[in-house]
Amino acid sequence: MNYRITILCENSVGSISGTLGEHGFSALVEWENSSLLFDTGQGFTLLHNAQRMNKNLHQLQDVALSHGHYDHTGGLLPLLRTCGGKRIFGHADILLPRYRYKDTGENISLGLPYPKEYLEGHGAVFDFSNQYREICKGIYMTGQVPRNTDFETGDSGLFLDVSGTVRDPFNDDQSLIIPTEKGLVILLGCCHSGLINTLEYAALLTGCSDIYAVIGGTHLGYCTGQQLDQTVSALRKWKITKLAASHCTGFNAAARLKQEFPAAFQSAHVGYSIVV
Ligand SMILES: [Fe+2]
Ligand SMILES: [Fe+2]
Repeated sequence: MNYRITILCENSVGSISGTLGEHGFSALVEWENSSLLFDTGQGFTLLHNAQRMNKNLHQLQDVALSHGHYDHTGGLLPLLRTCGGKRIFGHADILLPRYRYKDTGENISLGLPYPKEYLEGHGAVFDFSNQYREICKGIYMTGQVPRNTDFETGDSGLFLDVSGTVRDPFNDDQSLIIPTEKGLVILLGCCHSGLINTLEYAALLTGCSDIYAVIGGTHLGYCTGQQLDQTVSALRKWKITKLAASHCTGFNAAARLKQEFPAAFQSAHVGYSIVV
């Protein structure tokens, strides 16, 4: 069975005229007569871009959320309002308030922009788990990802409180795994757990160390240069065929990945599509 993965929301757009970019991420996975939406962007571009790409989200039944950040969950309300109720897979911690705290003393709310009950009133049916599980035919969610590498220290500006004293542990951060004949296909939201932690856990969970494609946000754009350097060296062992980084990878880290892995690197902007 083949899956088509199409990026609906991302920071930048590709060659499909009329599509729009926003800081956020959403990917549609389609197979046979079914589909799953992985993240929803922040809410400004999901429906517009889906229509522009002839993707019918009314038929969609299921949504999986990588974590609670607004730029991955904000599209839920417009989706539910326009396309009807959906089952929503994720970790219960997607509901936590969360913030970016800057050294200027400024803080920005980054959490899920709507109360759970409000979304339920619009047809959301939440299905929470922190465990590895199959959520649709042949599509798995990682569950909570163990932190094993010592260099993936993450984004030091993200907190659970407005005053910036409790670092956000991102226990809710999950990725999708689609095992295929070519190897694993791994879809990332922001990958706050760390790219290498996530790849190692996916290999452990599936018993497969062949990774065919990695698609989505790596958050390397918000981490230290040392983390980027060590991630690049650790990535070499995986021999990934397609490294389609986007969103919070940022321009500089994406340019570095392109330089280090020229044959594998692809830019997963709005309209990027791959059949696996
Ligand atoms: Fe993000
Ligand atoms: Fe995030």
